[in-house]
Amino acid sequence: MRRNLPGLLALSVVGAVSGTPLLPRYINSTGSGVTCNGTFSRITAQTWVDGMNPGWNLGNTLDGIPDEGDWGNPPVVPATFDDVKNAGYKGVRLPDYKVNPAWLQRVSDVVDMVIERDMYVLVNVHHDSWTWADVTQANANYTQIEEKFYRLWYQIGIKLACKSSLLAYEPINEPPGTSAAHAAELKKLEGLFLQAIADAGGFNPHRVVTLNGPQENSDLTSQYFVRPTNISNPWAIQYHYYSPYPFIFSAWGSTIWGSDADKAALEADIANIRNNFTDVPLIIGEWAASPVATETAARWRYSDFFVRIASKYNTATVLWDNGADFLDRTNHVWRDQTAIDIYMSAHAGEANALPDSTIDPNAKTQHTSADLFVRVGQNVTSQTLPYILPRNITLLSIAGPNGKSLARGTDYSVTGNNITFSASFLRTFFTPSVSPGSIANLTLGFSTGADLTLDLVLWDTPVLSSTSSSVAAANGSSISIPVQWKGINKPATVKTVTTNGTYLVDDFTKYYGPLQNARTWNWDTNNLIITSAAVNAVQALAEDVIFTFEFYPRVPGNAVNYTLTV
Ligand SMILES: *[C@@H]1O[C@H](CO)[C@@H](O)[C@H](O)[C@H]1NC(C)=O
Ligand SMILES: *[C@@H]1O[C@H](CO)[C@@H](O)[C@H](O)[C@H]1NC(C)=O
Ligand SMILES: *[C@@H]1O[C@H](CO)[C@@H](O)[C@H](O)[C@H]1NC(C)=O
Ligand SMILES: *[C@@H]1O[C@H](CO)[C@@H](O)[C@H](O)[C@H]1NC(C)=O
Ligand SMILES: *[C@@H]1O[C@H](CO)[C@@H](O)[C@H](O)[C@H]1NC(C)=O
Ligand SMILES: *[C@@H]1O[C@H](CO)[C@@H](O)[C@H](O)[C@H]1NC(C)=O
Ligand SMILES: *[C@@H]1O[C@H](CO)[C@@H](O)[C@H](O)[C@H]1NC(C)=O
Ligand SMILES: *[C@@H]1O[C@H](CO)[C@@H](O)[C@H](O)[C@H]1NC(C)=O
Ligand SMILES: *[C@@H]1O[C@H](CO)[C@@H](O)[C@H](O)[C@H]1NC(C)=O
Ligand SMILES: *[C@@H]1O[C@H](CO)[C@@H](O)[C@H](O)[C@H]1NC(C)=O
Ligand SMILES: *[C@@H]1O[C@H](CO)[C@@H](O)[C@H](O)[C@H]1NC(C)=O
Ligand SMILES: *[C@@H]1O[C@H](CO)[C@@H](O)[C@H](O)[C@H]1NC(C)=O
Repeated sequence: MRRNLPGLLALSVVGAVSGTPLLPRYINSTGSGVTCNGTFSRITAQTWVDGMNPGWNLGNTLDGIPDEGDWGNPPVVPATFDDVKNAGYKGVRLPDYKVNPAWLQRVSDVVDMVIERDMYVLVNVHHDSWTWADVTQANANYTQIEEKFYRLWYQIGIKLACKSSLLAYEPINEPPGTSAAHAAELKKLEGLFLQAIADAGGFNPHRVVTLNGPQENSDLTSQYFVRPTNISNPWAIQYHYYSPYPFIFSAWGSTIWGSDADKAALEADIANIRNNFTDVPLIIGEWAASPVATETAARWRYSDFFVRIASKYNTATVLWDNGADFLDRTNHVWRDQTAIDIYMSAHAGEANALPDSTIDPNAKTQHTSADLFVRVGQNVTSQTLPYILPRNITLLSIAGPNGKSLARGTDYSVTGNNITFSASFLRTFFTPSVSPGSIANLTLGFSTGADLTLDLVLWDTPVLSSTSSSVAAANGSSISIPVQWKGINKPATVKTVTTNGTYLVDDFTKYYGPLQNARTWNWDTNNLIITSAAVNAVQALAEDVIFTFEFYPRVPGNAVNYTLTV
């Protein structure tokens, strides 16, 4: 059966036969497509979106370039989806990269792993948006992109034609685009995607699809998304949410979150797209506040608020997890189980107790009740940590690392929202012989919502393997500085000011608070990194520059200077 979609009529035509509708030669609508055995239970897009919520992304795996293991993750195994399902997730988004028979079989097998567990699953083409399918490139050959895109989805459609209605499709991940012209071309690609899956046959014409606007950005989607007409598939809109960018990616010293203004900005974003599409099922296909990039209390508070607001606006959420963020797939352990528990209880509409933390953008230091910090050499005294206890949540118990309950009154006491740990209790952990690092995690159980962990951390200022080098030695490359961590194993930020007070880069940070002025950073597991861009900036300035690396806790003195000489 020939299926015409409105957008196709505008395509340039190759090999059109006179008297027939004008279609590019690659459109395969004359074939019969797949005929499936079995039945397909048709569902609405809203049912699919609700079923997928909350979901999890198998990030940086099937979308690895060029191969599954290339971005550091082990090949996916069925047990990964057991871990994900046991954690409370209902669906999996499978970012997918390339198409050859073996790869398609692999994707099909992974789809089956998910469906066999009665979980919902979403397949897309992923990094193609920044390899061959980028419609914003000056020399982009739209004809070629259109043909490739149709063929790609035709092949995927054939391979996955008979899967259950738990499987949905997403045409392309985060397609670049900023203008009406880009949006129009993306709309054309969307039409080709719909045509391709329809031509591939099987259950595809009834399968749920999640459509999107440029970049899967909520504002651009609100601005440019045009509702499809003449579509047989049930459809939802998908967008991604990583905002505020500086906090989510720990740029410019932005390590705090949670002020009323922060909350209002987040809610305004989620409400805006909902108000534009009041009758369309919405799904946030990627979001995350990763333990790798964010401070713990801020992360938990953000996650709690974000999931509640998404629910409030009837929007499903799918956590991005690149393999280093949340699930340790090899060891079947969630790296931040508390964040996952907060996610699940927020999703269920249960109130969560949360650690208090600094939210004032003009603060000079940052406190957190997610960690209890003792500095090396400091006399261990009692410590009071404030919590946020919504409604009438009460602390029921605190368990030590051995699972044994602490003695209230002796080990700790509670006054209002404050928990005070006694010096004698803390001294059983912070003994003179322990080394810097995480000493133990306590588990705080509340009358409602997620348990919270409290990490007892002995810290000192980290030590760098060297504290200076020259621009000449770097020779235009980035500089990797090995670091010996002493407490929390990641930097907070780096401040870069010349001797006369000039900011090396990002001068606009002077308008931010004291924890953010002149900040920027980059690092990997065991190294602090001065990027080649920063090296080049120092060279251009032709002056020695001091990089002040700052660590957690963000208190005076927890910083190391590194001088880059010219
Ligand atoms: C709409 O789709 C149907 C079935 O796919 C097709 O028969 C019809 O020609 C299409 N109409 C337009 C205006 O494209
Ligand atoms: C078109 O579909 C037929 C069967 O449906 C298939 O044999 C053929 O390879 C397809 N052609 C292209 C260009 O994909
Ligand atoms: C449907 O069943 C027939 C007969 O067993 C088989 O030849 C065909 O390949 C099956 N089709 C699909 C799509 O599995
Ligand atoms: C664009 O791609 C089409 C289809 O592959 C090809 O025929 C055409 O020559 C290309 N145009 C340019 C300018 O490369
Ligand atoms: C829809 O989104 C646009 C762009 O973000 C915004 O300006 C407009 O106010 C929104 N409309 C509604 C009804 O919220
Ligand atoms: C350490 O703190 C305790 C109170 O917790 C105090 O009695 C003691 O004098 C302090 N010791 C030193 C060396 O400061
Ligand atoms: C306070 O807790 C009680 C008992 O757990 C519960 O019945 C009541 O609804 C709660 N009140 C509020 C305002 O949440
Ligand atoms: C809780 O602790 C904070 C400091 O951490 C203090 O300012 C506040 O007064 C305390 N509140 C109560 C009720 O003890
Ligand atoms: C405490 O929990 C954190 C976060 O999960 C972890 O990195 C750390 O290793 C734990 N500490 C101990 C002593 O197990
Ligand atoms: C410096 O970089 C240039 C260009 O990348 C390279 O050709 C040259 O060999 C490098 N010099 C040293 C000493 O590594
Ligand atoms: C600081 O040094 C920079 C680079 O040499 C120069 O451009 C700037 O004018 C100086 N600023 C002041 C306040 O001296
Ligand atoms: C680090 O450098 C800054 C100037 O950027 C200076 O104010 C500070 O005293 C230095 N700190 C140390 C520990 O040398």
